[in-house]
Amino acid sequence: MVDLQGQYSKISNEIDEAVLSTIRSASFINGPSVVSFKKSLEDFLSVEHVIPCANGTDALQIALMALELKPGDEIIVPSFTYVATVEVISLLGLIPVMADVDEHTFNLTASNILPLITNNTKAVVPVHLYGQSADMEPILEIAKEHNLFVIEDNAQAVGATYRFSNGIEMKTGTMGHIGTTSFFPSKNLGCFGDGGALMTRDSFLASKIQMIANHGQIKKYHHEVTGVNSRLDTIQAAVLDIKLKYLGEYIASRNTMASFYDDAFSGMQELEVPLRASYSDHVFHQYTLKVKNGQRDNLKAYLGDLGIPTMVYYPIPLYMQNAFKKYVPLGFRLSITEELCQSVLSLPIHTEGNYDEMRYISDSVKGFFKNKLLNE
Ligand SMILES: Cc1ncc(COP(=O)(O)O)c(C=O)c1O
Repeated sequence: MVDLQGQYSKISNEIDEAVLSTIRSASFINGPSVVSFKKSLEDFLSVEHVIPCANGTDALQIALMALELKPGDEIIVPSFTYVATVEVISLLGLIPVMADVDEHTFNLTASNILPLITNNTKAVVPVHLYGQSADMEPILEIAKEHNLFVIEDNAQAVGATYRFSNGIEMKTGTMGHIGTTSFFPSKNLGCFGDGGALMTRDSFLASKIQMIANHGQIKKYHHEVTGVNSRLDTIQAAVLDIKLKYLGEYIASRNTMASFYDDAFSGMQELEVPLRASYSDHVFHQYTLKVKNGQRDNLKAYLGDLGIPTMVYYPIPLYMQNAFKKYVPLGFRLSITEELCQSVLSLPIHTEGNYDEMRYISDSVKGFFKNKLLNE
């Protein structure tokens, strides 16, 4: 699905030097690269505060802790997302209220959120799925109206830009009260292990986040609140500080691959290519097709036989998972989520795509439908 070796080989001199110099300095925890990367990411995102942490799941948990949400508070989340978003809500004794998503953008919308707001609703967590921003302006408006916190789960969309109706542009992850992200290796900005970060414009929240991520202490051995231990290793920060310089190029390469696929599949009735929303650019963490007429699994198997990896993000709605069934009434269904779980298929997309590879993949997808027609 990705070519991390190819990506590394192009910048190996820079990366090797940065990693070796961290090893030589033995400054493995909170070393200079952590400070430097934090500053670089703040500049890149035009946000006042970035607080690095150990992974994207911790970032979500720390965000909820920093907002002092109490057990029983309801948090509205999309039901079509990675487990982490709902998992941390459950872990903290909060109630995940699962909302359906838009059938074309795969994202949470204001109209999905609105009917779910109760007196107990305290926050909403839009996830910028597959690399494209949720439509944030209406979400921010209803959040303001109903006094809700907004936590943007930006694990899949680092570098994407949202355009407000007045023309103002902001990076995803910097529009809500807190944004979170992941630097898992296959993410658009990935390190060589686990990593994550929180973003906020609010200095008070930033110090609270920093304190919670560091055992709830501001001063060593003075613990103000119950915290966690969640740090970005210096080696990972050194890698990220270099890779951030290339993020623009990486996004452009992903878009080249996406446009190639779009052209190759244009006019095909059997597929729906990813919608590009007018309010957001797309950084294509995933290139996700909707495969019609129940053919998704057959297409996946066919491509697999030809050596083409594909993935289904996500095959089962979160409310059907044993861990989270308790949050919904018996027989609870969300029609779009269920349709997407049956129809989505992500093709390989990464920074090192070459035209032969793209042609082979797209010709194989088309070949599947041609063969099917011939056999009917
Ligand atoms: C939408 C979303 N949120 C959160 C996470 C969690 O990030 P991490 O794996 O770094 O904990 C991921 C990672 O896949 C994700 O895709």
